[in-house]
Amino acid sequence: MSYELPSNIDFSSPESVSKALADLQAAFADEVQAAHSADAREHFRVRWFGDKAGLVNRGAGAWIKAIPSAEKREFGAKFNAVKVRLTEEFQAAGAARSSATMAASLDLTLPGTRRGVGVEHPLTRTMREMVAVFAALGYSVALGPEVETDFFNFEALNFPPNHPARDTQDTLVIADQSSRPSRERLLMRTHTSPVQIRSMIAGPPPLRLVIPGKVHRNDESDATHSPIFHQVEGLCVDRGITFSDLKGTLDHAMKAFFGSSVKTRFFPSFFPFTEPSADVQISCPFCGGAGCRKCKHSGWIELLGCGMVDPAVFAAVDARRVENGLEPAYDVSGISGFAFGMGVERIAMMKYGVGDIGQFYSGDMRFLQQFA
Ligand code: DAH
Repeated sequence: MSYELPSNIDFSSPESVSKALADLQAAFADEVQAAHSADAREHFRVRWFGDKAGLVNRGAGAWIKAIPSAEKREFGAKFNAVKVRLTEEFQAAGAARSSATMAASLDLTLPGTRRGVGVEHPLTRTMREMVAVFAALGYSVALGPEVETDFFNFEALNFPPNHPARDTQDTLVIADQSSRPSRERLLMRTHTSPVQIRSMIAGPPPLRLVIPGKVHRNDESDATHSPIFHQVEGLCVDRGITFSDLKGTLDHAMKAFFGSSVKTRFFPSFFPFTEPSADVQISCPFCGGAGCRKCKHSGWIELLGCGMVDPAVFAAVDARRVENGLEPAYDVSGISGFAFGMGVERIAMMKYGVGDIGQFYSGDMRFLQQFA
């Protein structure tokens, strides 16, 4: 690698100029052949094509400066042609080398990379299956925001300000809201019930809605609690809806979901937005009611809350409809409805025999693969 640019070219002699250019190209050809490794190639690139110190650019600069102006044009053209040829040769040598390396490292007999086919998360699946049962009854899906106002999450659902029923909801509130009127303060919705209100304000009855969604509560995590969980809510409002419609609908839905031999039973309960309210139990789908580990040996499993829509809710909805320039449509004679709500995690844990709610959120493939 001893080639250096000659400084003794006689520019008045065409032979001398041709020889200089020929020497340059010969040296280039020798060196480009020798540059095998990536390091050597890079070294070669810098030596020949480096911006300032590269032989090609230095050659151009030094020789053009030395040449008498009459010859400049002709020599410049010649030199440029050489430069183009060298650049092409360098690139061709690089391409040949990299395809040789590729061929060496490509082994067509190796097995391919297997990509697993994704499956629904067990919570998504449970939620979708539950929604499908109601969709088959003619219910539409409604959705609402997870960041809610106090009005939708509480006030319109007949939780008055400072009412103790709010304490049971362990609400996570958004910071710096105290300058707002209390009904406009933002919080993380504690249940999917606010979507009942939004839907009724948006449109008049008849309404049959199923509402899946994520909810938030300031709950300590343990085996059965998580501060973020999911609910499926239902709302049916029409002319002359009765408690027996509620019972018949939920009994059908539980049979469709858990199997036709499942029985339901209703107990008096309390929710501010339903009157009367009930808790619903189903006979244990695993032991048929005889008692087993899944039903804690009682034969029954409590699954959801429900009730007839409280007239105070209809009144709040219509008040807001009127504020929005709409006709009142719910707090009118002959209109009634029922609602229900259930926890998705609870149902999925029971259905799949999951002992710790945290498994759903762990992202542990060993857990998730069991549902594939
Ligand atoms: N929103 C209630 C909760 O989170 C569940 C519920 C109960 C929903 C009764 C309803 C209902 O629609 O009628 O605890």
